[in-house]
Amino acid sequence: MKQGKRDRDIIICRCRDVTEEELKQAIEDGFDTMELLKRKTKIGTGTCGGRTCLQLVRRILARETGRELNEIKLPRERSPIVPLPLRFAAGEKTREDL
Ligand code: FES
Repeated sequence: MKQGKRDRDIIICRCRDVTEEELKQAIEDGFDTMELLKRKTKIGTGTCGGRTCLQLVRRILARETGRELNEIKLPRERSPIVPLPLRFAAGEKTREDL
């Protein structure tokens, strides 16, 4: 199997059906930070909150741009990774609720 065909078939973000090929194309088009990749491809915005894909995308971005892994910052989190009852936002959080 050729490398190009394989990249097209490898799904990196299962929640949003984003393949390695799509990520490489976005990086080549100048979306070369995790935040920009997130905006372009919606990686990390699925039901898992990026727990499955963000580290993989980070490695691909480091490899494709020739940067060290520790230079690649994860995108900002805007919502909880796991769904929380609204009563937590109202300050009614108790230890038993966790
Ligand atoms: S696998 Fe990417 S957001 Fe869930």
